[in-house]
Amino acid sequence: MPIRQLQISGVRNLQPLTITPHSGVNFIYGENGSGKTSILEAIAVMAAGKSFRTSQLKHVMSHDADRMELRMSIEDLHRGECELDSLRLKGGDHLLKQNGSVLTSQAEAAHWLPVQIIEPNTFKLLAGSPEERRQFIDWGVFHVEHGFMDQWKTFRKQLKQRNAVLKQKESEWLSVWNAGFVESALTIDKHRRDYLKRFKPEFERILTALDPDVDVTLAYFPGWDKDSELGDVLTRQQERDLALGYTQSGPHRAELRIKCDKQPAAEILSRGQQKTVVAALKIAQGSLFQQESDRRTIYLVDDLASELDEKHRFALCKLLEDLKCQVFITSIDKDKLTDVWQPVASKVFHVEHGRLTEEA
Ligand SMILES: Nc1ncnc2c1ncn2[C@@H]1O[C@H](COP(=O)(O)OP(=O)(O)O)[C@@H](O)[C@H]1O
Ligand SMILES: [Mg+2]
Repeated sequence: MPIRQLQISGVRNLQPLTITPHSGVNFIYGENGSGKTSILEAIAVMAAGKSFRTSQLKHVMSHDADRMELRMSIEDLHRGECELDSLRLKGGDHLLKQNGSVLTSQAEAAHWLPVQIIEPNTFKLLAGSPEERRQFIDWGVFHVEHGFMDQWKTFRKQLKQRNAVLKQKESEWLSVWNAGFVESALTIDKHRRDYLKRFKPEFERILTALDPDVDVTLAYFPGWDKDSELGDVLTRQQERDLALGYTQSGPHRAELRIKCDKQPAAEILSRGQQKTVVAALKIAQGSLFQQESDRRTIYLVDDLASELDEKHRFALCKLLEDLKCQVFITSIDKDKLTDVWQPVASKVFHVEHGRLTEEA
């Protein structure tokens, strides 16, 4: 499901551009500050409705533009062709369209663009908050289980209602809300659990290929004492939930614990090893997605040379090549990329002061 055509305007320092990327590997090189990351960022914004660099999209829009427009033609083996259009105005208004029809949710666009990002901040997946790892698991579930988004929304609604009851101290209503909360919580939990069961062996395979000397284990924590029923936990914690005004246990507190020698991997591994583990998580996720859906992931790999040394760079590139998916990969130095890896099918782009040109 490669991006066949990509149009970007009003993004950071980039001049309006239209490119026809390769369905295989796209190398993008250029000096610091030329606009490489901004190109990947534009694709990420289309896929997820958010940037991996900033929590506020207004920073992605060019300072001197009044609108940011992204357009992508996507070809999907199973779902056919699709044109996604995203228009954001300076005031914050946003319009998202698929083949000319307005989409009401970002998730619909996301289904067309299963994008995985490997960039300098991704080691936060290990060291950052549990929220990041929950989102990681949920990406995997979301792209395979079509009902997951609605189930997740149902759960969020249940949680909000239960928290409102807790804040109002309406303890007599709690038992009524608990039943629905537990039901939707267990649905989410089951999806995550099933997903991780399938994910683990794939992760182990990829991590061994990337670096056989790094040994980490993945353990899932559902968000409550795993030896107890969630309903019992809620009853036990009711007084404290009432005092705090929110629900302490449930899938909103789930965690993927990534450990090395029984310690959090983020505390033990070197920064370089952490990046390797994160790269393995992301490649395993894309690989499993491809096996289960018979569709392809799109990889955005930013500043590869600064991320990994030559040996690991080569191993990562080989794995990406094996996936036969579309890759956008940036580097300051063209040689740093093409030295270690010369995939058969590729295009090279050069960025200079926000202007992108394709090399012959
Ligand atoms: N909102 C913006 N409008 C215009 N230029 C911006 C904006 N945000 C960042 N820039 C500039 O865009 C340039 C490109 O940044 P970036 O894509 O990170 O470059 P690279 O990844 O090639 O090092 C930087 O020089 C930065 O100063
Ligand atoms: Mg950059």
